[in-house]
Amino acid sequence: MGNCFGSSTKVDATLSTSSESSRNPSKISNKSAPSNISISSYSGKSSGEGLSTPRSEAEILSSSNVKPFLFNELKSATRNFRPDSLLGEGGFGYVFKGWIDETTLNAAKPGSGLVIAVKKLKPEGYQGHKEWLTEVNYLGQLHHPNLVKLVGYCSDGDNRLLVYEFMPKGSLENHLFRRGPQPLSWAIRMKVAIGAARGLSFLHEAEEQVIYRDFKASNILLDGEFNAKLSDFGLAKAGPTGDRTHVSTRVMGTQGYAAPEYVATGRLTTKSDVYSFGVVLIELLSGRRAVDKTKTGVEQNLVDWAIPYMGDKRKLFRIMDTKLEGQYPQKGAYTCATIALQCLSHESKLRPRMAEVLATLEQLQAPKSSTTHSKVENRPSFNHVCLSPLKQHSPMNMKPLASPLPRRSLLVK
Ligand SMILES: Nc1ncnc2c1ncn2[C@@H]1O[C@H](COP(=O)(O)OP(=O)(O)OP(=O)(O)O)[C@@H](O)[C@H]1O
Ligand SMILES: [Mg+2]
Repeated sequence: MGNCFGSSTKVDATLSTSSESSRNPSKISNKSAPSNISISSYSGKSSGEGLSTPRSEAEILSSSNVKPFLFNELKSATRNFRPDSLLGEGGFGYVFKGWIDETTLNAAKPGSGLVIAVKKLKPEGYQGHKEWLTEVNYLGQLHHPNLVKLVGYCSDGDNRLLVYEFMPKGSLENHLFRRGPQPLSWAIRMKVAIGAARGLSFLHEAEEQVIYRDFKASNILLDGEFNAKLSDFGLAKAGPTGDRTHVSTRVMGTQGYAAPEYVATGRLTTKSDVYSFGVVLIELLSGRRAVDKTKTGVEQNLVDWAIPYMGDKRKLFRIMDTKLEGQYPQKGAYTCATIALQCLSHESKLRPRMAEVLATLEQLQAPKSSTTHSKVENRPSFNHVCLSPLKQHSPMNMKPLASPLPRRSLLVK
């Protein structure tokens, strides 16, 4: 097991004076973790502080509603981080399955009590530590059915760990791109898209806005009923306040998912997340990765490859996942493609808000659009897919983009 896919390359373009750097071991990071750092991020409302108020590590750890674990407790809970407890690996480190008592939260016998996922930070220094702290800061305070629950953390000597609720179906990435599991049905794909849209919308519409910054298939985790929950808040950032239109940061994220204007300028807005959502929507439609280095030419980049087919209802079937075996509603698929095109608008202001995307996706679950058809081009009544009834519920303009997106190359270190 492991994060063996080239598509997950992290973007780290040095564009500002911020102290951030990439968490990928092959990228820039200071090797020593300072004993105390402060981060400008979500502060919660109870303290009465603003989003941009820096908080010290001690403040974050003492105010979060999660349990501080000792390293030895997590060692027992995961049976000494046994390889057969390994759930996966990412840039941050390895993730292990473990068990704790439901009430005391102490380590429990394998197979009894509450199942947890324990993420163990690689000893990587400042950036890893900073992302660990950012995650405790956000997930310690933000609670929503579509955000993964943080049970606790461990800061014991040099060890930094995060303890989450266990998500039995793993990540969306595993289901969409790996051979083995049953292919996801259209209905499940829509359920996942809606769940993830709810999570993002919650962050964006919060009084103290949060920009997630790392929206991608591997960060969408699935519970036993395929409810989607966002994980990995290590790159999350407080949204702009007052009259500001954006926050300026060093460019961080994942190649193929990061919005082009953000990569080019370091200016971050909620519309950067909306762009990434558009990329994931195409992944759901096509079953292809955002970036696939095993392919050649234009097919390496999903957005570049898919866009020419997405605005034409007669061509859309060419990008649809063959694993669906034609079992999807044409109107639903075309509406989804249209939403994706809007999310991918080159001009970030033209992208819809996540609340608008969510409202439109929710309309697709109406029984009207649930009939399946085997071939898109056999459907004569496909013309008015821009669905005027939808507009009553959603302010989104459902017209496809007139021209394909211009693309920029990403600076990847
Ligand atoms: N709470 C959880 N429950 C079950 N499995 C999990 C949980 N958290 C993570 N995993 C598994 O561990 C894998 C690695 O997760 P991780 O977030 O460390 O890396 P990633 O998302 O693949 O990459 P990146 O570091 O770029 O975010 C996931 O793909 C998933 O399969
Ligand atoms: Mg992840």
